[in-house]
Amino acid sequence: MSKTCWITGASSGIGKFTSLCFAKNGYTVFASSRSLENLNNLVNESRSLNLKGKIVALPLDVTNADQILTCSKFIAENTENLDFVILNAGTYIREDSKLATVKSTRKMIDLNYTSVLNHIIILQPFISILNIKQIAIVSSIAGWRGMPMSAAYCSSKAAIKTAIESFEIDYHSSEVRFRIFYPGFVKTPLTDKNKFKMPFIIEAEKAANIIYKKLLYSKKFEISFPFNFALIMKLITIMPWPLYKKLMLKKNR
Ligand SMILES: NC(=O)c1ccc[n+]([C@@H]2O[C@H](COP(=O)([O-])OP(=O)(O)OC[C@H]3O[C@@H](n4cnc5c(N)ncnc54)[C@H](OP(=O)(O)O)[C@@H]3O)[C@@H](O)[C@H]2O)c1
Repeated sequence: MSKTCWITGASSGIGKFTSLCFAKNGYTVFASSRSLENLNNLVNESRSLNLKGKIVALPLDVTNADQILTCSKFIAENTENLDFVILNAGTYIREDSKLATVKSTRKMIDLNYTSVLNHIIILQPFISILNIKQIAIVSSIAGWRGMPMSAAYCSSKAAIKTAIESFEIDYHSSEVRFRIFYPGFVKTPLTDKNKFKMPFIIEAEKAANIIYKKLLYSKKFEISFPFNFALIMKLITIMPWPLYKKLMLKKNR
């Protein structure tokens, strides 16, 4: 049987390096994002690196449920099995809650939460057809508490966490496992927009290697990284509200 995976948000940042990492390790990677041009660039890059596996461009707007179904069918017609599905596509718009718009809020909720949930629901009949072993979601440490300038982002990442917990419980007796990743800051086009200092920021290639290794060699349901930042944020998560608010106000000044 071939080694196969499907990665969304594959044309850039964490998704791009995760795709290359899986292909380097002999996987056929169905790589999805909206831009066919960027996906083709990724395919060309992977070819020039002479990797053991290969990358197949599978353009998809994950906010379009019909397209998710079409792509799932395409994969089912072109491979016998699908080991991993990594739902990574996401976005962040930094904005003061006082100035938030319906449009920007909807964009983040649709992409970071609704599309992920839709994707899993649409994939359900394919879990047994393709013998899907793991469905992994890329949430964020930002989903652990409400942070300044990030109401829609934090809440979308927190909401997807609880949804995945429910799926993992309901699928307990089946072969598929759900996993959830909480990255801290990773250097990608998404964070390149940030003007503030991002503590413990890591390269996207490092994040991709962590995702690959944890999916293959760890059974943990929740994986947060980098370790130091996750530890600090875990402590901040249990801080009483008045203290937490004070800290955030100080940091956001
Ligand atoms: N970077 C960080 O510090 C960090 C930290 C924690 C969590 N995360 C999470 O990690 C994930 C990847 O982030 P990143 O930093 O690698 O971001 P990125 O470099 O901006 O990449 C985002 C990817 O998502 C794709 N995408 C956007 N909208 C899409 C849509 N509607 N349908 C399909 N694909 C879409 C983009 O390609 P197209 O535009 O071509 O569609 C691109 O490939 C996100 O879920 C993000 O929230 C990132």
